[in-house]
Amino acid sequence: MNESNESPVYGENGELVKVGSDLKHIAFIMDGNGRWAKMRGKRRDYGHTEGAKAFERIVEYCGKIGIRVMTVYAFSTENWKRPKEEVDKIMLLLEKYLDKLLAKVSQYDIKVKFIGDKIPLSEKLKKKIALAEKETKNKGRLLNIALNYGSRAEITEAVNKLIKRGIGRVTEKDISDALYTAGEPDPDLIIRTAGEQRLSNFLMWQAAYSEFYFTDVLWPDMTDKDVEKAINNYYKRTRRYGGLA
Ligand code: FPP
Repeated sequence: MNESNESPVYGENGELVKVGSDLKHIAFIMDGNGRWAKMRGKRRDYGHTEGAKAFERIVEYCGKIGIRVMTVYAFSTENWKRPKEEVDKIMLLLEKYLDKLLAKVSQYDIKVKFIGDKIPLSEKLKKKIALAEKETKNKGRLLNIALNYGSRAEITEAVNKLIKRGIGRVTEKDISDALYTAGEPDPDLIIRTAGEQRLSNFLMWQAAYSEFYFTDVLWPDMTDKDVEKAINNYYKRTRRYGGLA
């Protein structure tokens, strides 16, 4: 954890050792699994398998450098349009990750939380998610996994919750507090891999003042060094939040 550390810490060779307290939350749009597989003459599934390995690698690195909140876009509300085998594969990879996390729960300082609509998920996956969320709830750093997530759906659902509560006039805080990410810091940095430069219905409310970083690296190739590069780029920016520098 990195509560009191104001500035980033660098090692002897200029490598990033710890982020500063102004970088609490990094979100990732893990794009390019399919292209990575296609370039190797393999099925898209294989790209997702390697993508899941990259995910674990990056989760570990973000923990090492003191990132308190990490969010990954694993499956959007629109991804159901993909072939069933591909959808099943992504769900299976998530199950496997949860099995691993649960088996080694004492070794990880990860509080896992799923954001998105869980209703259409399989009963088996729902049970694993509930167990993983329960077993890790007192851990330190937060890992949000966006699954069957869509920002428009999230905001719409938040507004409907507030209407149901009989609220007369809605404030920005009411909406923030009714989102899946209630109480969490907004993402400071959003990294999207594989060259696309769009948000794709991801954290649209929360990203109001996020810094964006786009890289051509395909997600399965993503390394610690690539994340470090994005963070170094983040530290070159001046965040003004609509004010003056
Ligand atoms: C986007 O690449 C990626 C996805 C829709 C799935 C992301 C899933 C993983 C990284 C693996 C499972 C996740 C976890 C958390 C264990 P794409 O398939 O759209 O790539 P393309 O644009 O090259 O086709």
